[in-house]
Order: sequence, then C-alpha cells, then structure tokens
Amino acid sequence: MPMLNSPQGYGSLTKALHWIVAALFAVQVAAGLVMTRLPDESGTARDAIYNWHKTLGLVALAVALVRLWARRAGELPPWAPGLTVLDQRIVHHAERGLYLAMFVMPVSGFVYVMAGGYGVLFAGVLALPNPLPRWAWLALAGKWTHIAGALLLAAALAAHLTVVLRHTLLHSHGLLRRMLPGQ
Ligand code: HEM
Ligand code: HEM
Repeated sequence: MPMLNSPQGYGSLTKALHWIVAALFAVQVAAGLVMTRLPDESGTARDAIYNWHKTLGLVALAVALVRLWARRAGELPPWAPGLTVLDQRIVHHAERGLYLAMFVMPVSGFVYVMAGGYGVLFAGVLALPNPLPRWAWLALAGKWTHIAGALLLAAALAAHLTVVLRHTLLHSHGLLRRMLPGQ
C-alpha cells in the first residue's frame, strides 16, 4: 500500500493518522467534558486532566498539520461506489467541518489558556513560552470559539458517522474498509 493517497485508495499515512486523530479526539472530548464539571475540591487531579488535555490537544494540532499536508500531496481516491449525490455532498461538507475542527479546537484552546494567563505545562514538564499578552477579551473569545468548535465537531462527526455506518452496515458497500489497513 503506498504511503500517500492515490486513485487506488487512501494511503497508509492517511489511514494511520485518521485513526490516531479519531482516538485523540475521543480522549479530548471526554476529558473536556469531565474536567469542566469536576468540583474545585478535585485539586491536583483536575489540574492533571487539564494539563493532559492541553498537551494532547497540541499533539493533535501537529498531527492535523501532517494530515493536511498528506491530503494535499496525494491524489484523492474516487468516491466510494453506492454513494448518492446527497451522500457525496454530506461527506464533502462533513470532511471540511472535521478539518476545520482539527485546527479550530487546538488553536482556540491555546489562545484561551495563553491570553488568560493559565499557560501550558506540556506533558507535565515543559512550561511553554506564552506568545500572547494577557487580554481578558481574547481569552473569552478563545473560550467561546472552543465551545462553538466542539459543537461544530459534534455536528460534522454525526454526519460523517451516519454516512459511513449506513453504507457499511445497511448497504454492505464496505465504506469502512477504505480506511482500514491493507486495502
Ligand atoms: C483536539 C483538540 C481539542 C478538543 C477536541 C477539545 C475539546 C474540548 C471540549 C469538548 C471541552 C469542553 C467544553 C465545555 O464543556 O465547556 C474543552 C474544554 C477546554 N479545553 Fe479543549 N479541546 C482540544 C484542545 C485543547 C487545547 C490545545 C487546549 C489548550 C492548550 C485546550 C484547553 C481547554 C480548556 C482550558 C477547556 C476548559 C474550558 C472551560 O473552562 O469551559 N483544549 N475542550
Ligand atoms: C469511530 C469514528 C470514525 C469512523 C468509523 C470513521 C470512518 C471513516 C471512513 C470509513 C472514511 C473513508 C470514507 C471514504 O471512503 O471516503 C473516513 C474518512 C475521513 N474521516 Fe473519519 N471516521 C471516524 C472518525 C473521524 C474523526 C474523529 C475525524 C476528524 C476529526 C475524521 C475525519 C475524516 C476525514 C477528514 C476523512 C477523509 C479522508 C482524509 O482526508 O483524511 N473521522 N472516516
């Protein structure tokens, strides 16, 4: 299987990064929802979750950059057989939304914590330099963009999974196989 996408199918790099991002996003959304609901008394445990949320979010940003490069460097495979014109439109818009979320989520989170003066202790050991001034309005804009981005992500992911699962389970078109190793 070639590393980059080709008319024969998705490349190994796209497939590997797709599942790494899916796992990272599952962890990030779960951590985000849990940590913001923990009581103040949770102290260091809550701080640790915040720290790992910030760290993995920045790792996800780096992965998204490589992924975008891989998508541009290769040639997209043709549409999967069996997709209606409406399905193709949904897939196209959902993928744009997902790519947008892959950048909006980490960047808005970063802006929020840096402009808010909270900072990032990367992997619990490295305090990242803060390139932003301490501006409350910018922090608030970052925070609300982060929350709006999570809603965008949820909508795009719901559309993405609806098409993938419907065509995999109901129509047996093997859509899921296109993103699995060895195809
Ligand atoms: C893959 C990337 C990311 C995803 C999917 C993600 C997702 C989320 C979600 C779902 C929430 C909960 C929102 C709420 O219920 O209020 C959240 C909160 C938060 N995230 Fe992220 N996040 C990502 C990256 C980051 C990064 C890179 C940072 C900082 C460097 C960050 C900082 C925060 C902070 C500080 C909160 C708490 C916001 C609040 O107080 O309401 N996130 N995130
Ligand atoms: C369990 C969750 C997921 C499943 C089962 C899944 C499944 C798939 C499948 C089967 C394809 C290939 C569609 C085709 O043949 O054209 C695909 C493509 C794609 N998926 Fe997912 N996906 C999941 C989660 C995600 C997440 C979390 C993201 C992004 C945040 C994402 C972003 C994409 C993108 C952008 C593509 C187009 C190919 C590319 O440029 O990378 N998926 N997905």
